[in-house]
Amino acid sequence: MPSVSVRDVAALAGVSVGTVSNVLNRPDRVSEAAVIRVHDAIDKLGFVRNDAARQLRAGRSLNFGLIVLDAGNPFFSDLARGAEDRAAVDGLAILLGNSNEDLTREAAYLDLFEKQRVSGVLISPIGDRVARLERLRERGIPAVLVDRAAPGSTFSSVSVDDVSGGRIAAAHLLDIGRRRIAYVGGPGTIRQVADRYRGARDAVDSVSGAQLEVIPTAALTVLEGRAAGEAVASRPKGERPDGVFCANDLVAVGVLQGLGILRGLAVPEEIALIGYDDIAFAQSTVVPLSSIRQPAGLIGRTGLELLLAESEAGATTPEPQHVVYQPELVVRASTSG
Ligand code: RIB
Repeated sequence: MPSVSVRDVAALAGVSVGTVSNVLNRPDRVSEAAVIRVHDAIDKLGFVRNDAARQLRAGRSLNFGLIVLDAGNPFFSDLARGAEDRAAVDGLAILLGNSNEDLTREAAYLDLFEKQRVSGVLISPIGDRVARLERLRERGIPAVLVDRAAPGSTFSSVSVDDVSGGRIAAAHLLDIGRRRIAYVGGPGTIRQVADRYRGARDAVDSVSGAQLEVIPTAALTVLEGRAAGEAVASRPKGERPDGVFCANDLVAVGVLQGLGILRGLAVPEEIALIGYDDIAFAQSTVVPLSSIRQPAGLIGRTGLELLLAESEAGATTPEPQHVVYQPELVVRASTSG
């Protein structure tokens, strides 16, 4: 008989998954009527709680740590939500830390999560934290890398093929006839930025006569993008790129502001523009943004699933898994027409 899930219980009881989770873990937050409906559904369906949750209750923390590069970036809030939704199903919780691309802050959160004895850590690392994560694992706290490809690493990882994503973005600009392409983003020390550039370089090098210049930014923010957009718009017409690929959507939103709103340049007519992440806001910019979609929520959910599996495995560290999702081109007005 297939195992009954929390979703089945929620459907039969006519409540949300979160309500079922609260009935099981925080019934004080739920109306008596809902508690009764949920328990009736549990009895009717023969629902059995998740082993990971039971094990964790037996002696481990119900909390997992998540350290992201920039909590202000909707990509990471979507990733965090994916992990949180999965955690809630088992009555677990995610503690969010924002490294803000600062190594000292990242180290401080790793220390904090160790002191809190979380049951595992998801991290989108700034650089190489292998030694520190190995020390965590020795203390019984496994880690999974999210938004970071780590083939060959002893830590599981969940990522998107950013080299392929960069290639798809640049190829799209080339396909619409653009030949003077600029890659806007930085710092180049961020692995995602470097990989996307590598992919764009591959695509541009495969088309004779096409050029790719790099316009570095100090960070992947709207403000940095706007400054880059204004700098491009202030160039003489013949020295401007005719296509711009931004390392993420926040930078692309800023470039759009710098090019269009402040300097009156027409996007895409004069300069086509594409971003990366496909955050929800990309659809509602003054010229809806083309982008490379990353399944942020799925990355977060998959990262937690791998962590739960390692928590369940206890001392015997399972073989690391390296999940790589494929990026997807989303075409909107900023590269059409
Ligand atoms: O934080 C830098 C970028 O890397 C984010 O915008 C997202 O694309 C992540 O993959």
